[in-house]
Amino acid sequence: MTGDRIKIEELLNYPGIGRVTLHKLSKIGIEYIHELTLFNPEEIMELASIDIERACQIIRLARKVAGKKAKVLNALEYERVMNSREQFTTGVKSIDKLVKGGIAVWDIYEFAGEYGSGKTQLCHQLAVTVQLSKEKGGLAGKAVYIDTEGTFSPSRVRDIASGFKLNEEEVLRNILVYRPINVAELEELVVEQLRSIFDLNTKLVIIDSIIALYRAEFKGREWLARRQQRINYLIDWLKRYANTYDIAVVYTNQVLSQPVPWGIAYKIPAGGNIVAHAATHRFLLRRLQDKWVIECIDSPRIARGSSASFRITERGLEDIK
Ligand code: GTP
Ligand code: MG
Repeated sequence: MTGDRIKIEELLNYPGIGRVTLHKLSKIGIEYIHELTLFNPEEIMELASIDIERACQIIRLARKVAGKKAKVLNALEYERVMNSREQFTTGVKSIDKLVKGGIAVWDIYEFAGEYGSGKTQLCHQLAVTVQLSKEKGGLAGKAVYIDTEGTFSPSRVRDIASGFKLNEEEVLRNILVYRPINVAELEELVVEQLRSIFDLNTKLVIIDSIIALYRAEFKGREWLARRQQRINYLIDWLKRYANTYDIAVVYTNQVLSQPVPWGIAYKIPAGGNIVAHAATHRFLLRRLQDKWVIECIDSPRIARGSSASFRITERGLEDIK
C-alpha cells in the first residue's frame, strides 16, 4: 500500500496548501495521503468545496508524496509485473487451472448464474482460501464480505475452514462482513468507509451480489439509465481499490432469460453493458444434476468457452475425483 502511514499534514510542506484546505479534506474523512490518491480532482472539488485548480494540485502532490508515478514499461517488463503479482488458490485445482493459477489481485471477477449455481458457495470458499498461507497457495490475507442478499453463513465458513485445516475462529475473525440494506448504504460503505477498513493484509473484496439492491430499488425502464450510472460508479470505486491496495475483487451477478425467436431462451448475466464491461473476467456458473460447471464468458487472458467442473460438499467446493 503506497503512502500508507503518511498523514495529509505532510502536504503543508508544499507551497500553496494551507491549514484551511487540510481542514476541508479532513472534514470529508480524508486523513492519509493514500486515501487522497483514490479521488479525482472533480470529486475533491465537489465533496470538499475546494476550487478545481487547487484540487488538481492536491491530487498531483498526493500522488508524488505517495510515490505514485505513471510508469511506462516495455511489454516484457509488463509481462513480468503481471506474472509476478499475487494470486491465491480457489481450493479447486480445475478452477485454478481455468483462472490461470488462481484469483489475482488488481483483477475484477464476475460470477454469474442461476439460483443454486454455486455463486455464494464460491464466495465463501474464496473468503477462506485467501487466508491460507503462501506455502499452501493463499495470501495469508483478509477478506471483506459485502452480503446484499443476506446469505452469508458463518457456519458454512467454519465447515470450509475446517476442510482446509485452518483455525475456524481465526478464519471468521479475518472476514469483515457488511450487510447493506439498500443502495445508499452499499454506496456509503464502498465509497466512504471501505478505504479506512483496509489494512495491509486485506486481499479480497467480495460482493454477493452486485445487482440485487439496484434491481430492487430502480424498477422500470425510466430508471434504467440512472441505475446503470450508479452501478458504474460503485464498480469504478472497486477498481480504484483493487489497483491502489493490491486487492482482488469478486462479485456475483444474477442472470436473465434472453428469449430468442427461434429456440430455447438462454441465460445472460444481468446489468447490461455497464456490468458486462466492468469485470476483467466473467464466468457463468451452472448446476448439472450432481455437479457444477464454471465457464469463462469473457476475459482478456482466458479462452472464452473454457470451463471447469467441481462439486459442492460439506467441505465446500472440490474437484471431481
Ligand atoms: P442464489 O444466491 O440463490 O442465486 O444461488 P447461488 O448461486 O448463490 O447458490 P449457492 O452458492 O447458495 O449454491 C447452493 C448449492 O450449494 C445448493 O443448492 C447446495 O446444493 C450446495 N450447498 C450449499 N451448502 C451446502 C452444504 O453445506 N453441503 C453441501 N453438500 N452442499 C451445499
Ligand atoms: Mg447466492
